[in-house]
Amino acid sequence: MTTRMALSKDLDAVVHILNQSILRGNENGRLATVKASELHDWFFEHSPSRYPLLVTEEQGEVVGWLSLGAYRPGREALRRTAEISYYVRQRKKRQGIGSTLMKEALRICPCLGIKVLVAFLLEHNSGSIALLRKFGFERWGLFPQAAYIGGKLVGQLCYGKLLEKADRV
Ligand SMILES: CC(C)(COP(=O)(O)OP(=O)(O)OC[C@H]1O[C@@H](n2cnc3c(N)ncnc32)[C@H](O)[C@@H]1OP(=O)(O)O)[C@@H](O)C(=O)NCCC(=O)NCCS
Repeated sequence: MTTRMALSKDLDAVVHILNQSILRGNENGRLATVKASELHDWFFEHSPSRYPLLVTEEQGEVVGWLSLGAYRPGREALRRTAEISYYVRQRKKRQGIGSTLMKEALRICPCLGIKVLVAFLLEHNSGSIALLRKFGFERWGLFPQAAYIGGKLVGQLCYGKLLEKADRV
């Protein structure tokens, strides 16, 4: 298993893995599958030196990905904070791939100037909560009834982690 920066050839695999999650119906806020063309800009906005997109590969197959992205883009004061999201190929879940991606993200964050990580997830997303807790993320908030899925109102959680403990100023 190797984890590396995504290359343009990985776009289709990244979209496929995201669509697997969308088709499960309740893992993220998207309700309809996406085409590679719709994610093209998002994919290529990532950059190894600021907001990388990481993929984990197993025997030549991309089995998971993790994205670091701007939190509230355009607000300079928030540049030290990044949003993290991650997806693992359906049949490869619970085999340590999410953990591998998270470890690599936490390793490189200091080099990227990222001091705070936040993740947003639907409140019933037990896999995501387990991964976040395993790596020391804490529950920082709940947006009640933020989502409407399958006729039900669902809250959205925010989990976060301080990567550098600083004295409050
Ligand atoms: C969240 C996700 C990336 C986790 O990936 P993964 O490869 O299954 O994670 P790991 O195998 O590294 O598991 C990490 C820990 O979480 C636990 N875990 C994973 N899925 C779990 C689940 N559904 N319920 C309870 N615990 C779970 C594992 O047991 C492991 O704990 P341990 O190492 O102490 O045993 C994966 O479930 C996924 O792709 N979910 C759909 C996409 C998604 O919801 N993304 C988040 C949207 S922001």
